[in-house]
Amino acid sequence: MKVTINAAMTLDGKIATAAGDSAISSKDDLKRVHRLRTTSDAVMVGISTVLADDPMLTARLARGRNPARIVVDSRGRIPSESRLLRTARETRTMVAVTERAAKEAVGRIEESGAEVIVAGKESVDLRALFSALEKKGIRKILVEGGGELNWSVLRLGLADRLIVTVAPRIAGGRLAPTLVEGDGFDQISKGIRLKLAKAERKKTGELVLHYIPGKIHSTF
Ligand SMILES: NC(=O)c1ccc[n+]([C@@H]2O[C@H](COP(=O)([O-])OP(=O)(O)OC[C@H]3O[C@@H](n4cnc5c(N)ncnc54)[C@H](OP(=O)(O)O)[C@@H]3O)[C@@H](O)[C@H]2O)c1
Repeated sequence: MKVTINAAMTLDGKIATAAGDSAISSKDDLKRVHRLRTTSDAVMVGISTVLADDPMLTARLARGRNPARIVVDSRGRIPSESRLLRTARETRTMVAVTERAAKEAVGRIEESGAEVIVAGKESVDLRALFSALEKKGIRKILVEGGGELNWSVLRLGLADRLIVTVAPRIAGGRLAPTLVEGDGFDQISKGIRLKLAKAERKKTGELVLHYIPGKIHSTF
């Protein structure tokens, strides 16, 4: 399994404003992300991202195939009217829930044409999920946030690559979500160490930074 995290943040590390605006990338950068999607088997997001942005997660700005879409959603809260579930019969869509998800929620999601994967008890067990996905032939996953999901993937050492677009803007706001949320570490020295593999300076003023984990287990 190859796992890439991709995100866009402001210079002060925010991935959206407190009011929920997450339009951080330029059109050029969005095209890059869509091209990246065409080379991925699946795009994965957390349920809070679906509730905030109602994304499509297709590769419509690039030439190539759409990846499958996966939502990490313990209780099966994804709305039936979300764009993902409304288009689940056109583009493969999977919702990863836990044993906490009510039968009715699971039934409602399946009714839309999406597949339900049960992994874990409280929050979604990402290791179990990734191995279930691998059995379904999904080998390249693009994780597109938000901050809570990014934390879980990084914390478990599951990311092979992290690509971050830094936009030349400052959003501020103590309640604005950041690139990585979760519980965090007490000491910087315990933090996840990464190596800068590539830095691209764009005409838009954006920086696209490519990192790989310090302990290299990557072939990227
Ligand atoms: N700029 C960007 O690149 C970008 C990209 C994506 C999102 N965003 C922004 O990010 C914000 C949402 O981010 P967020 O951090 O609040 O939430 P998130 O990561 O999208 O979703 C987190 C939720 O996923 C569920 N979950 C289940 N299992 C999990 C696990 N193992 N690890 C982590 N989460 C798990 C939990 O809800 P349950 O307990 O209910 O399952 C959790 O609260 C939005 O404002 C969105 O616009 C920005």
